[in-house]
Amino acid sequence: MPVDEKLITSEVLDNTLVREIYPEIKVLSEPKMGKVRTVYDIGDQRMIMISSDNLSTHDVVHKRQVYGKGANLDAISEYYFKATEHIVSNHLVETIASNVWLVQKAEPILVEMVFRKYLTGSGWRDYIKKNGPEKGSEFCGVELRPGYRKNEILDEVIFTPTGKGIVGDFDIPEFQGMDPEIDDPKITIEIIKANYRVFGLRKPEDLDYIMGKAFALYSFIHKDLEEKGHLLADTKWEFGYLSDGRIALIDECVTPDSSRFWKASDYKFNPEKNEFTIVQDDKQHFRDYVESLGLQAVERKDELAAHIMDDNVLRQGVVKYCNIREEITGTLPGITNFSRKDAVLKALGDAGFLR
Ligand SMILES: Nc1ncnc2c1ncn2[C@@H]1O[C@H](COP(=O)(O)OP(=O)(O)O)[C@@H](O)[C@H]1O
Ligand SMILES: [Mg+2]
Repeated sequence: MPVDEKLITSEVLDNTLVREIYPEIKVLSEPKMGKVRTVYDIGDQRMIMISSDNLSTHDVVHKRQVYGKGANLDAISEYYFKATEHIVSNHLVETIASNVWLVQKAEPILVEMVFRKYLTGSGWRDYIKKNGPEKGSEFCGVELRPGYRKNEILDEVIFTPTGKGIVGDFDIPEFQGMDPEIDDPKITIEIIKANYRVFGLRKPEDLDYIMGKAFALYSFIHKDLEEKGHLLADTKWEFGYLSDGRIALIDECVTPDSSRFWKASDYKFNPEKNEFTIVQDDKQHFRDYVESLGLQAVERKDELAAHIMDDNVLRQGVVKYCNIREEITGTLPGITNFSRKDAVLKALGDAGFLR
């Protein structure tokens, strides 16, 4: 049963979990804040990870949040963490509340492990720029044959890694002379292996292990999603070392923030445009909205950050996130006016994690 839109009132839309630091949590060190999550080191190789309802598009965190987004993303990750435990270990220990996880602390590897099954987004833009359709081209060290059309399925899943951070974070010869502010710089398997310590790897072969696991994850999850009517166009994983030295999947797993999901039934070749038509879920709704306002340009970041989305745009987004969560996991989030923050703090208190 899809979520009942009438339940998503203005009050509900305002009852979001904002990304913030809770000083009430007992911690060993300063909490770490990402764009969406906050991570608390609580000692004993354990961390509390709280997923907010924050929305970021075009590298900007928006003023308003999307009700239920954090809980929906966590539910999807959790579903795939559990379904793929036989393939690779992951950091999830226990769900304390929706939006709140207890995880094993890891030493993150500083590579965004991006995998693609379809040629779209930055991969497609790069291919066009290098005249790939006629001559073929290279992307993150991967040779792409000529003749692909926009959004077309690739001959095989490809690995197109980027550095986690900005160019200036990595002191490696390959980045000499590059603008240090470039975010998520494109790299290759060779660059990672030649500078493995800078990228947080303990030995170069660990990358082969991770790639092997990631290809297996991709094919398992793609098949599961396809049975549910979606194509996994691309996704991004993070891995890290646990205290016993094992490599585990950390952060999130195949959520709408880290992946592109396309509706399988709408994926068709359009001969007039010479491209494959796609209908994308969730976050694209917000990206399209921002682009309809013309606020996607880097020079307009401040304006985008100050922009306040109206209830209708938000409500449609809430519904989309709920729908995809339900299609994947079979569950929906509770729709409530009871303060999300109070609920999170109560769950943390009951579990003994507060001062
Ligand atoms: N098990 C873990 N141990 C240590 N750090 C983790 C773990 N899982 C995730 N992280 C880190 O926590 C942060 C999560 O915040 P997030 O909002 O997802 O950040 P980002 O904007 O970098 O994606 C990231 O920096 C991620 O590398
Ligand atoms: Mg993340």
